[in-house]
Amino acid sequence: MAFVRWGLRRQNFQPLSRVLLLKLMAIVLSVFLFCEYFIYYLVIFRCRWPEVKTLAHGGRQEPVLKAMFLADTHLLGEIRGHWLDKLRREWQMERAFQTALWLLQPEVVFILGDIFDEGKWSNAQAWADDVQRFQRMFRHGSHVQLKVVIGNHDVGFHYQMSKYRIKRFEKVFSSERLFSWKGVNFVMVNSVAMEGDGCNICSEAEAELREISRKLNCSREQVQRSSQCEGEHRLPISAPVLLQHYPLYRVSDANCSGEDAAPPEERNVPFKEKYDVLSREASQKLLWWLRPRLILSGHTHSACEVLHPGGAPEVSVPSFSWRNRNNPSFIMGSLTSRDYSLSKCYLPFEDRVLTTYGAAVGSLLLLILAHFERLPSSFLSVWKLCRRR
Ligand SMILES: *[C@@H]1O[C@H](CO)[C@@H](O)[C@H](O)[C@H]1NC(C)=O
Ligand SMILES: *[C@@H]1O[C@H](CO)[C@@H](O)[C@H](O)[C@H]1NC(C)=O
Repeated sequence: MAFVRWGLRRQNFQPLSRVLLLKLMAIVLSVFLFCEYFIYYLVIFRCRWPEVKTLAHGGRQEPVLKAMFLADTHLLGEIRGHWLDKLRREWQMERAFQTALWLLQPEVVFILGDIFDEGKWSNAQAWADDVQRFQRMFRHGSHVQLKVVIGNHDVGFHYQMSKYRIKRFEKVFSSERLFSWKGVNFVMVNSVAMEGDGCNICSEAEAELREISRKLNCSREQVQRSSQCEGEHRLPISAPVLLQHYPLYRVSDANCSGEDAAPPEERNVPFKEKYDVLSREASQKLLWWLRPRLILSGHTHSACEVLHPGGAPEVSVPSFSWRNRNNPSFIMGSLTSRDYSLSKCYLPFEDRVLTTYGAAVGSLLLLILAHFERLPSSFLSVWKLCRRR
Protein backbone atom coordinates (compact mmCIF):
# COMPACT_ATOMS: atom_id res chain seq x y z
CA MET A 1 0.00 0.00 0.00
CA ALA A 2 2.81 2.35 0.93
CA PHE A 3 4.32 1.67 -2.45
CA VAL A 4 1.10 2.60 -4.24
CA ARG A 5 0.76 5.86 -2.39
CA TRP A 6 4.35 6.72 -3.03
CA GLY A 7 3.99 5.94 -6.71
CA LEU A 8 0.92 8.14 -7.04
CA ARG A 9 2.50 11.02 -5.26
CA ARG A 10 5.60 10.79 -7.35
CA GLN A 11 3.90 10.53 -10.71
CA ASN A 12 1.05 12.97 -10.30
CA PHE A 13 1.35 15.29 -7.39
CA GLN A 14 4.93 16.36 -7.63
CA PRO A 15 4.67 18.44 -10.86
CA LEU A 16 1.62 20.23 -9.41
CA SER A 17 3.78 22.27 -7.12
CA ARG A 18 5.30 24.59 -9.72
CA VAL A 19 3.56 25.50 -12.96
CA LEU A 20 0.06 24.40 -12.16
CA LEU A 21 0.06 25.96 -8.75
CA LEU A 22 1.20 29.26 -10.24
CA LYS A 23 -1.49 29.07 -12.91
CA LEU A 24 -4.16 28.29 -10.34
CA MET A 25 -3.07 31.13 -8.12
CA ALA A 26 -3.00 33.57 -11.03
CA ILE A 27 -6.56 32.61 -12.01
CA VAL A 28 -7.88 32.84 -8.47
CA LEU A 29 -6.22 36.18 -7.87
CA SER A 30 -7.32 37.80 -11.12
CA VAL A 31 -10.91 36.61 -10.79
CA PHE A 32 -11.02 37.86 -7.22
CA LEU A 33 -9.54 41.24 -8.13
CA PHE A 34 -11.92 41.59 -11.04
CA CYS A 35 -15.06 40.68 -9.07
CA GLU A 36 -14.19 42.68 -5.99
CA TYR A 37 -12.49 45.72 -7.43
CA PHE A 38 -12.27 46.36 -11.18
CA ILE A 39 -15.86 45.44 -11.97
CA TYR A 40 -17.02 48.59 -10.18
CA TYR A 41 -14.93 50.75 -12.51
CA LEU A 42 -16.09 48.85 -15.57
CA VAL A 43 -19.79 49.17 -14.70
CA ILE A 44 -19.93 52.69 -13.25
CA PHE A 45 -17.73 54.01 -16.06
CA ARG A 46 -20.74 53.67 -18.37
CA CYS A 47 -22.88 56.10 -16.34
CA ARG A 48 -23.24 59.66 -17.62
CA TRP A 49 -24.61 62.83 -16.06
CA PRO A 50 -27.89 63.68 -17.79
CA GLU A 51 -28.07 66.80 -19.93
CA VAL A 52 -30.10 69.73 -18.67
CA LYS A 53 -31.13 72.90 -20.49
CA THR A 54 -29.28 75.93 -19.19
CA LEU A 55 -30.12 79.54 -19.80
CA ALA A 56 -27.56 82.27 -20.26
CA HIS A 57 -27.87 84.73 -17.40
CA GLY A 58 -26.34 88.15 -18.00
CA GLY A 59 -23.73 86.71 -20.33
CA ARG A 60 -23.02 83.82 -17.99
CA GLN A 61 -24.29 80.30 -18.23
CA GLU A 62 -26.48 79.14 -15.35
CA PRO A 63 -24.56 76.82 -13.04
CA VAL A 64 -25.49 73.12 -13.04
CA LEU A 65 -25.38 71.17 -9.79
CA LYS A 66 -24.35 67.52 -10.04
CA ALA A 67 -26.01 65.59 -7.25
CA MET A 68 -26.07 61.89 -6.45
CA PHE A 69 -29.01 60.33 -4.56
CA LEU A 70 -28.90 56.96 -2.87
CA ALA A 71 -31.00 55.30 -0.19
CA ASP A 72 -31.33 52.48 2.34
CA THR A 73 -27.73 51.43 2.86
CA HIS A 74 -28.77 49.50 6.01
CA LEU A 75 -25.31 48.99 7.53
CA LEU A 76 -25.78 45.89 9.61
CA GLY A 77 -25.54 46.19 13.38
CA GLU A 78 -24.14 43.87 16.00
CA ILE A 79 -27.39 42.04 16.74
CA ARG A 80 -28.79 41.01 13.39
CA GLY A 81 -25.61 41.15 11.32
CA HIS A 82 -23.54 38.07 10.59
CA TRP A 83 -19.89 39.13 10.27
CA LEU A 84 -19.46 37.71 6.77
CA ASP A 85 -22.65 39.33 5.49
CA LYS A 86 -21.51 42.60 7.03
CA LEU A 87 -18.02 42.37 5.58
CA ARG A 88 -19.24 41.57 2.08
CA ARG A 89 -22.08 44.15 1.89
CA GLU A 90 -19.96 46.90 3.35
CA TRP A 91 -17.08 46.17 1.02
CA GLN A 92 -19.49 46.28 -1.95
CA MET A 93 -21.02 49.58 -0.92
CA GLU A 94 -17.65 51.10 -0.11
CA ARG A 95 -16.20 50.15 -3.50
CA ALA A 96 -19.34 51.28 -5.34
CA PHE A 97 -19.39 54.63 -3.55
CA GLN A 98 -15.66 55.32 -3.81
CA THR A 99 -15.61 54.35 -7.49
CA ALA A 100 -18.63 56.55 -8.23
CA LEU A 101 -16.98 59.52 -6.46
CA TRP A 102 -13.78 59.02 -8.42
CA LEU A 103 -15.37 58.50 -11.84
CA LEU A 104 -18.39 60.79 -11.66
CA GLN A 105 -17.23 63.61 -9.37
CA PRO A 106 -20.58 64.64 -7.87
CA GLU A 107 -20.67 67.87 -5.85
CA VAL A 108 -23.34 66.77 -3.42
CA VAL A 109 -24.39 63.30 -2.30
CA PHE A 110 -27.71 62.71 -0.53
CA ILE A 111 -28.50 59.51 1.34
CA LEU A 112 -32.24 59.18 1.83
CA GLY A 113 -32.43 57.46 5.21
CA ASP A 114 -31.98 54.03 6.76
CA ILE A 115 -28.24 54.48 6.80
CA PHE A 116 -28.05 51.97 9.65
CA ASP A 117 -30.09 48.87 10.24
CA GLU A 118 -30.09 48.97 14.02
CA GLY A 119 -29.91 52.67 14.91
CA LYS A 120 -33.40 52.18 16.33
CA TRP A 121 -32.15 50.05 19.24
CA SER A 122 -28.34 50.06 19.28
CA ASN A 123 -26.58 51.07 22.48
CA ALA A 124 -23.97 53.83 22.59
CA GLN A 125 -21.05 51.50 21.87
CA ALA A 126 -22.70 49.75 18.91
CA TRP A 127 -23.82 53.12 17.54
CA ALA A 128 -20.28 54.53 17.72
CA ASP A 129 -19.00 51.43 15.95
CA ASP A 130 -21.62 51.70 13.18
CA VAL A 131 -20.90 55.40 12.70
CA GLN A 132 -17.19 54.77 12.44
CA ARG A 133 -17.72 52.15 9.74
CA PHE A 134 -20.09 54.46 7.88
CA GLN A 135 -17.52 57.24 7.92
CA ARG A 136 -14.86 54.96 6.53
CA MET A 137 -17.08 53.56 3.76
CA PHE A 138 -18.51 56.91 2.70
CA ARG A 139 -15.33 58.98 3.15
CA HIS A 140 -15.00 61.84 0.69
CA GLY A 141 -12.90 64.90 -0.02
CA SER A 142 -13.93 68.33 1.24
CA HIS A 143 -15.11 69.31 -2.26
CA VAL A 144 -17.98 66.80 -1.91
CA GLN A 145 -20.84 67.50 0.47
CA LEU A 146 -22.60 64.51 2.00
CA LYS A 147 -26.14 65.11 3.29
CA VAL A 148 -28.18 62.56 5.12
CA VAL A 149 -31.92 62.26 5.79
CA ILE A 150 -33.31 60.42 8.85
CA GLY A 151 -34.99 57.05 8.29
CA ASN A 152 -37.00 54.78 10.57
CA HIS A 153 -34.12 52.34 11.03
CA ASP A 154 -31.86 55.19 12.16
CA VAL A 155 -34.08 56.42 14.98
CA GLY A 156 -36.99 53.95 15.08
CA PHE A 157 -40.56 54.12 13.83
CA HIS A 158 -42.69 56.86 15.33
CA TYR A 159 -43.37 55.13 18.65
CA GLN A 160 -39.76 53.97 19.10
CA MET A 161 -38.11 57.24 18.20
CA SER A 162 -36.81 59.37 21.04
CA LYS A 163 -35.17 62.77 21.43
CA TYR A 164 -31.99 60.94 22.43
CA ARG A 165 -31.86 58.90 19.21
CA ILE A 166 -32.59 61.89 17.02
CA LYS A 167 -29.94 63.97 18.86
CA ARG A 168 -27.26 61.35 18.44
CA PHE A 169 -28.10 61.04 14.75
CA GLU A 170 -27.99 64.79 14.23
CA LYS A 171 -24.75 65.09 16.16
CA VAL A 172 -23.10 62.97 13.49
CA PHE A 173 -25.01 64.16 10.42
CA SER A 174 -26.16 67.71 11.29
CA SER A 175 -29.72 68.82 11.89
CA GLU A 176 -29.86 71.04 8.83
CA ARG A 177 -33.23 70.84 7.03
CA LEU A 178 -32.79 73.46 4.33
CA PHE A 179 -29.82 73.38 2.04
CA SER A 180 -29.20 75.71 -0.90
CA TRP A 181 -26.41 75.28 -3.37
CA LYS A 182 -25.87 76.77 -6.83
CA GLY A 183 -29.36 78.25 -6.83
CA VAL A 184 -31.08 74.96 -5.95
CA ASN A 185 -33.06 74.57 -2.69
CA PHE A 186 -33.31 71.19 -0.99
CA VAL A 187 -35.61 70.49 1.95
CA MET A 188 -34.67 67.41 3.99
CA VAL A 189 -37.64 66.29 6.05
CA ASN A 190 -37.61 63.99 9.05
CA SER A 191 -40.52 61.98 7.70
CA VAL A 192 -40.67 59.74 10.78
CA ALA A 193 -41.85 62.85 12.67
CA MET A 194 -44.74 63.49 10.25
CA GLU A 195 -47.16 61.32 12.22
CA GLY A 196 -49.44 64.28 12.83
CA ASP A 197 -50.42 63.23 16.35
CA GLY A 198 -49.01 66.34 18.03
CA CYS A 199 -46.21 64.47 19.80
CA ASN A 200 -43.39 66.75 20.95
CA ILE A 201 -40.97 65.75 18.23
CA CYS A 202 -43.74 65.94 15.62
CA SER A 203 -44.90 69.44 16.54
CA GLU A 204 -41.33 70.71 16.58
CA ALA A 205 -40.74 69.19 13.16
CA GLU A 206 -43.92 70.81 11.83
CA ALA A 207 -42.97 74.20 13.25
CA GLU A 208 -39.61 73.89 11.54
CA LEU A 209 -41.31 73.06 8.25
CA ARG A 210 -43.67 76.02 8.54
CA GLU A 211 -40.65 78.28 9.02
CA ILE A 212 -39.02 76.77 5.93
CA SER A 213 -42.28 77.25 4.04
CA ARG A 214 -42.32 80.92 5.04
CA LYS A 215 -38.73 81.40 3.86
CA LEU A 216 -39.50 79.71 0.56
CA ASN A 217 -42.61 81.84 0.13
CA CYS A 218 -40.49 84.94 0.72
CA SER A 219 -38.16 83.90 -2.05
CA ARG A 220 -40.99 83.45 -4.55
CA GLU A 221 -41.24 86.56 -6.62
CA GLN A 222 -44.84 87.55 -6.03
CA VAL A 223 -44.62 87.80 -2.23
CA GLN A 224 -41.11 89.09 -1.95
CA ARG A 225 -42.20 92.56 -0.99
CA SER A 226 -44.47 91.55 1.88
CA SER A 227 -43.57 92.91 5.31
CA GLN A 228 -43.07 89.40 6.71
CA CYS A 229 -39.99 88.97 4.60
CA GLU A 230 -38.16 92.20 5.43
CA GLY A 231 -34.52 91.93 6.40
CA GLU A 232 -34.62 88.28 5.49
CA HIS A 233 -31.67 86.44 4.03
CA ARG A 234 -33.23 85.52 0.69
CA LEU A 235 -33.13 82.00 -0.64
CA PRO A 236 -32.56 81.49 -4.35
CA ILE A 237 -35.79 81.90 -6.33
CA SER A 238 -36.50 78.27 -7.08
CA ALA A 239 -39.10 75.70 -6.08
CA PRO A 240 -37.45 73.25 -3.68
CA VAL A 241 -36.53 69.61 -4.14
CA LEU A 242 -38.06 67.60 -1.30
CA LEU A 243 -35.94 64.81 0.12
CA GLN A 244 -37.26 62.34 2.67
CA HIS A 245 -37.19 58.73 3.71
CA TYR A 246 -40.89 57.75 3.49
CA PRO A 247 -42.57 58.29 0.14
CA LEU A 248 -45.57 60.61 -0.01
CA TYR A 249 -48.88 58.81 0.18
CA ARG A 250 -49.71 56.45 -2.69
CA VAL A 251 -52.14 53.53 -2.75
CA SER A 252 -49.62 50.92 -3.80
CA ASP A 253 -46.81 50.34 -6.27
CA ALA A 254 -49.32 48.99 -8.83
CA ASN A 255 -48.40 51.59 -11.43
CA CYS A 256 -44.66 51.22 -11.04
CA SER A 257 -42.70 49.71 -13.88
CA GLY A 258 -39.14 49.05 -14.86
CA GLU A 259 -36.68 46.31 -14.09
CA ASP A 260 -36.10 47.48 -10.54
CA ALA A 261 -39.70 48.17 -9.55
CA ALA A 262 -41.23 45.99 -6.82
CA PRO A 263 -41.80 42.37 -7.96
CA PRO A 264 -45.24 41.85 -9.57
CA GLU A 265 -46.64 39.85 -6.64
CA GLU A 266 -45.92 42.75 -4.25
CA ARG A 267 -46.98 45.62 -6.46
CA ASN A 268 -50.69 45.39 -5.72
CA VAL A 269 -50.36 45.05 -1.95
CA PRO A 270 -51.86 48.26 -0.56
CA PHE A 271 -49.46 50.48 1.40
CA LYS A 272 -50.11 51.18 5.06
CA GLU A 273 -50.18 54.87 5.91
CA LYS A 274 -47.52 56.00 8.40
CA TYR A 275 -45.71 52.70 7.91
CA ASP A 276 -45.01 52.15 4.22
CA VAL A 277 -45.80 55.68 3.11
CA LEU A 278 -46.68 58.99 4.81
CA SER A 279 -50.30 59.57 5.76
CA ARG A 280 -52.52 61.33 3.25
CA GLU A 281 -52.76 64.30 5.55
CA ALA A 282 -49.00 64.69 6.04
CA SER A 283 -48.40 64.31 2.31
CA GLN A 284 -50.95 66.98 1.56
CA LYS A 285 -49.32 69.33 4.09
CA LEU A 286 -45.87 68.86 2.61
CA LEU A 287 -47.17 69.52 -0.89
CA TRP A 288 -49.01 72.68 0.21
CA TRP A 289 -46.30 74.09 2.39
CA LEU A 290 -43.30 73.45 0.20
CA ARG A 291 -44.73 73.26 -3.32
CA PRO A 292 -41.79 71.10 -4.41
CA ARG A 293 -40.86 70.66 -8.06
CA LEU A 294 -39.43 67.20 -7.40
CA ILE A 295 -39.59 64.66 -4.58
CA LEU A 296 -37.05 61.92 -3.94
CA SER A 297 -37.61 59.25 -1.30
CA GLY A 298 -36.42 55.81 -0.19
CA HIS A 299 -37.89 53.21 2.20
CA THR A 300 -39.54 50.86 -0.32
CA HIS A 301 -36.17 49.52 -1.60
CA SER A 302 -37.66 49.48 -5.13
CA ALA A 303 -37.93 52.00 -7.92
CA CYS A 304 -41.08 53.89 -8.83
CA GLU A 305 -42.17 57.14 -10.43
CA VAL A 306 -45.39 58.80 -9.33
CA LEU A 307 -47.08 62.02 -10.33
CA HIS A 308 -48.78 63.75 -7.38
CA PRO A 309 -51.76 66.08 -7.60
CA GLY A 310 -50.48 69.50 -8.61
CA GLY A 311 -47.98 67.88 -10.94
CA ALA A 312 -45.06 67.21 -8.59
CA PRO A 313 -43.22 64.04 -9.64
CA GLU A 314 -41.80 61.68 -7.03
CA VAL A 315 -38.97 59.24 -7.62
CA SER A 316 -38.49 56.28 -5.27
CA VAL A 317 -34.79 55.55 -5.02
CA PRO A 318 -34.06 51.80 -4.68
CA SER A 319 -31.78 50.42 -2.00
CA PHE A 320 -28.02 50.81 -2.46
CA SER A 321 -27.30 47.47 -0.75
CA TRP A 322 -26.97 44.06 -2.42
CA ARG A 323 -28.53 42.65 0.69
CA ASN A 324 -31.84 44.14 -0.42
CA ARG A 325 -31.66 43.64 -4.17
CA ASN A 326 -29.69 42.07 -6.99
CA ASN A 327 -29.47 45.31 -8.98
CA PRO A 328 -28.85 48.26 -6.67
CA SER A 329 -28.48 51.71 -8.18
CA PHE A 330 -28.29 55.38 -7.44
CA ILE A 331 -29.79 58.42 -9.13
CA MET A 332 -27.64 61.03 -10.87
CA GLY A 333 -29.23 64.46 -11.12
CA SER A 334 -28.17 67.57 -13.05
CA LEU A 335 -30.05 70.48 -11.49
CA THR A 336 -30.35 74.18 -12.17
CA SER A 337 -32.67 76.60 -10.40
CA ARG A 338 -35.34 76.10 -13.08
CA ASP A 339 -34.84 72.70 -14.53
CA TYR A 340 -33.48 69.29 -13.71
CA SER A 341 -32.87 65.96 -15.31
CA LEU A 342 -32.25 62.58 -13.72
CA SER A 343 -30.69 59.33 -14.78
CA LYS A 344 -30.03 56.05 -13.05
CA CYS A 345 -26.67 54.38 -12.57
CA TYR A 346 -26.73 50.64 -11.88
CA LEU A 347 -24.07 48.96 -9.83
CA PRO A 348 -22.78 45.50 -10.85
CA PHE A 349 -25.53 42.87 -10.64
CA GLU A 350 -24.84 40.40 -7.88
CA ASP A 351 -25.91 37.33 -9.88
CA ARG A 352 -23.39 38.22 -12.59
CA VAL A 353 -20.61 38.45 -10.03
CA LEU A 354 -21.63 35.07 -8.63
CA THR A 355 -21.78 33.59 -12.16
CA THR A 356 -18.24 34.84 -12.77
CA TYR A 357 -17.08 33.12 -9.61
CA GLY A 358 -18.94 29.95 -10.65
CA ALA A 359 -17.32 29.97 -14.09
CA ALA A 360 -13.91 30.48 -12.48
CA VAL A 361 -14.40 27.50 -10.17
CA GLY A 362 -15.51 25.45 -13.20
CA SER A 363 -12.39 26.30 -15.22
CA LEU A 364 -10.16 25.61 -12.22
CA LEU A 365 -11.64 22.13 -11.97
CA LEU A 366 -11.09 21.59 -15.71
CA LEU A 367 -7.49 22.67 -15.41
CA ILE A 368 -6.86 20.28 -12.55
CA LEU A 369 -8.58 17.45 -14.42
CA ALA A 370 -6.51 18.12 -17.52
CA HIS A 371 -3.44 17.90 -15.40
CA PHE A 372 -4.43 14.53 -14.05
CA GLU A 373 -5.49 13.11 -17.38
CA ARG A 374 -2.66 10.63 -17.02
CA LEU A 375 -4.21 9.45 -13.81
CA PRO A 376 -6.23 6.50 -15.23
CA SER A 377 -3.18 5.02 -16.98
CA SER A 378 -1.02 5.36 -13.91
CA PHE A 379 -3.70 3.66 -11.87
CA LEU A 380 -3.65 0.89 -14.40
CA SER A 381 0.10 0.38 -14.18
CA VAL A 382 -0.03 0.38 -10.38
CA TRP A 383 -2.84 -2.16 -10.52
CA LYS A 384 -0.83 -4.41 -12.84
CA LEU A 385 2.21 -4.11 -10.57
CA CYS A 386 0.15 -5.18 -7.57
CA ARG A 387 -1.39 -8.11 -9.42
CA ARG A 388 1.99 -9.43 -10.47
CA ARG A 389 3.13 -9.68 -6.89
C1 LIG B 1 -46.63 79.52 1.58
O1 LIG B 1 -47.46 79.53 0.43
C2 LIG B 1 -48.29 78.38 0.27
C3 LIG B 1 -49.05 78.51 -1.03
O2 LIG B 1 -49.56 79.78 -1.20
C4 LIG B 1 -49.23 78.24 1.46
O3 LIG B 1 -50.04 77.10 1.32
C5 LIG B 1 -48.40 78.15 2.74
O4 LIG B 1 -49.25 78.10 3.86
C6 LIG B 1 -47.46 79.36 2.83
N1 LIG B 1 -46.61 79.18 3.99
C7 LIG B 1 -46.69 79.93 5.09
C8 LIG B 1 -45.77 79.60 6.20
O5 LIG B 1 -47.45 80.84 5.18
C1 LIG C 1 -52.71 53.73 -11.66
O1 LIG C 1 -52.98 54.58 -12.75
C2 LIG C 1 -54.34 54.69 -13.07
C3 LIG C 1 -54.47 55.52 -14.33
O2 LIG C 1 -53.70 56.67 -14.26
C4 LIG C 1 -55.13 55.26 -11.89
O3 LIG C 1 -56.48 55.35 -12.18
C5 LIG C 1 -54.92 54.37 -10.69
O4 LIG C 1 -55.53 54.92 -9.54
C6 LIG C 1 -53.42 54.19 -10.40
N1 LIG C 1 -53.26 53.21 -9.36
C7 LIG C 1 -52.45 53.39 -8.32
C8 LIG C 1 -52.40 52.31 -7.30
O5 LIG C 1 -51.79 54.40 -8.15
